[in-house]
Amino acid sequence: MHHVRFLERLLDKTRSRKTRDGIRIYEQADFAGMHVAGALAARILDDVAQHVFPGQTTEAIDRLITHMVEEAGATSATIGYKGYQHASCISVNHVVCHGIPGPKVLKDGDILNIDVTVIVDGWYGDTSRMYVAGKLPRKAERLIQVTHDALMLGIEAVKPGNTFGDIGHAIQTYVEAHRMSVVRDFCGHGLGQVFHAPPNVLHYGRPGTGAVLEEGMFFTIEPMVNLGRPETKTLADDWTAVTRDKSLSAQFEHSVGVTSDGVDIFTLSPAGLFHPTYQS
Ligand code: MF3
Ligand code: CO
Ligand code: CO
Repeated sequence: MHHVRFLERLLDKTRSRKTRDGIRIYEQADFAGMHVAGALAARILDDVAQHVFPGQTTEAIDRLITHMVEEAGATSATIGYKGYQHASCISVNHVVCHGIPGPKVLKDGDILNIDVTVIVDGWYGDTSRMYVAGKLPRKAERLIQVTHDALMLGIEAVKPGNTFGDIGHAIQTYVEAHRMSVVRDFCGHGLGQVFHAPPNVLHYGRPGTGAVLEEGMFFTIEPMVNLGRPETKTLADDWTAVTRDKSLSAQFEHSVGVTSDGVDIFTLSPAGLFHPTYQS
C-alpha cells in the first residue's frame, strides 16, 4: 500500500512540476485546455462590445456576461470568489480594477475595462480589455493605446531564459516614456487549473531580475496604467480600486503560456476586437 502511494506521488510530481519559486510547469497537452478557456473568455469580450453604449448600466452588461458564460456551459471564476458576486469586473474611468457592476449609467465618453474569467473543464481563461461608451475622448485614446501597447511589449518579452523582471521592465519603460504611470498595487498572476497562483507578475521591474521563464509556465499580464500618479485606494465596498488623484486609468489583460521559443496567447480575440480602435 505504502509504496503504491509513493509511486503515485512520484508520477504526479513529474506530471505537475513546480519550480523553486512555486511556479507550476504545465505539460504540452495542457495548452489545449487553456486555449479553449481563453478563447471563450475572449469571445465573450467580443460579444459584449455591442452592448457598451451611453445609457447602458454596468449591471446590464454583467447580466449579459453571466448569460453568455451559462450559454457556453462554462463556469464564472469570479462568482463566489472571495465573496464576489458577479461574472465580471467593470471599471469605469478612474476605477483602476475590480469595479463592481451596478446601476451606474454609462455616459458619452466614459471608458471602461471589462474583465472576465471563465472556467472550462477546469481550465481558467482570464482576460480584460477597454471599451468606450460613445465617442472616445482624445486623452483617453492615448491612455488606452499606450496601455494596450505596453501589454503587447510585455508579452514580447516572454520566452524561456528571460525573467519576469524583463516583462515588467518592458512595460514600465514604455509607459513612463509616455509620461504615464504603472500601478504597483495590483499585478498579474500564475493561472491554469487555478485562478491565482505564483508568481506575482509585476508590471514594473529591472531586467534580469525575478524568476526565470520556463516552457510550460502559464500566467496573466494585465498592466494598469494611469494618466496621473500610480497610487490607488480601495473603496468601502472592499473591491473597487480607484486612482487616488482621480486620474483616468486603463488596463488590458491576456492569459499566456511560455512555449519552447516564445509565447502562446490564450485569450486572443476571435473577432479581432481586442484593441478598441473600433467605435461602438
Ligand atoms: N479577473 C481578475 C484578475 O485579473 C480578478 C477578479 S477577482 C474578482 O485577476 F473577484 F474581483 F472578480
Ligand atoms: Co488576472
Ligand atoms: Co482578469
